[in-house]
Amino acid sequence: MSLVNKVVLITGAGRPNGIGAGIARCFANEGAKVLITDLEGAPLDATARAISDRVTGLVADAADQHSMARAAEHLLSLHGRIDVLVNNAGLGGLVLDFEEAGKTESVLAMTDAAWDAHLVSNLRTTFSSSAAVSPHIAQHGSIVNIASIAGLGPTPQLPAYGAAKAGVIHFTQTLAIELAPRRIRVNCICPGLLWTRAWEMLASRMKTRRPAFANMTERQIFEAIVAERTPLGGEQTPEDIGHLAVFYASEKARMITGQVIAVDGGRSVA
Ligand SMILES: NC(=O)c1ccc[n+]([C@@H]2O[C@H](COP(=O)([O-])OP(=O)(O)OC[C@H]3O[C@@H](n4cnc5c(N)ncnc54)[C@H](O)[C@@H]3O)[C@@H](O)[C@H]2O)c1
Repeated sequence: MSLVNKVVLITGAGRPNGIGAGIARCFANEGAKVLITDLEGAPLDATARAISDRVTGLVADAADQHSMARAAEHLLSLHGRIDVLVNNAGLGGLVLDFEEAGKTESVLAMTDAAWDAHLVSNLRTTFSSSAAVSPHIAQHGSIVNIASIAGLGPTPQLPAYGAAKAGVIHFTQTLAIELAPRRIRVNCICPGLLWTRAWEMLASRMKTRRPAFANMTERQIFEAIVAERTPLGGEQTPEDIGHLAVFYASEKARMITGQVIAVDGGRSVA
């Protein structure tokens, strides 16, 4: 994909089994230099070291423009340029939205604070990081936003998360138009179901809330949900997401901007 010496910043990539780390592995395999960021330092540095010596880590809050401006300056001081921003940070599945609200299962039972927390983690992260980093992105560079299939339609269990991810899709399209004169492309990926910490936490909550899941392990719950409705018959891997991110960022996608592709084994059309 000709990404040798391209410089890439990926947010929320601190966990070794997370989507961000998988995206970082795919870019590093194509010869890119990568900075991964997350809220905490310990797993982040270990994750970076485990991928490649072309990957480094930096603590930064993706929902804070000042913090991300410092991350951009750090990356410029290391490599002198930035070609790609991947907005991957998010807190999907850490809580069922209703449970955080502590009330009944109604969209309208959520508190303002619970609603805002989801919007900050999953939508403002994409806005703030783009606002801080995009002025430094080189011509013919690109931004890749990680939304979710939850952003493509109603999400009764996760209304605030779904609304935030729908916002990411909409923002992708708006930003694509705004940055087109600078020849910076902006595209979006909607992952389906991946066994990362987000799903480990979500399955653990489901286990206590749904009698049908009570005697299953978290992994079995996840597998049952994947089997329920995935035409291609399996979960996705972080590399499945990373391969599309690499393609979007490459010269081969030079005429693709403002687009949204689900990597979900067909779940969103089933
Ligand atoms: N796992 C799935 O099935 C799935 C499906 C669809 C979409 N996604 C999306 O993929 C992305 C990655 O999720 P994952 O499954 O790898 O989960 P994960 O929890 O392993 O990774 C998300 C990371 O984002 C970080 N983060 C959250 N807020 C941040 C902030 N303000 N600044 C910096 N880092 C922040 C977290 O610390 C965490 O390390 C998320 O945007 C998530 O919503 C995941």
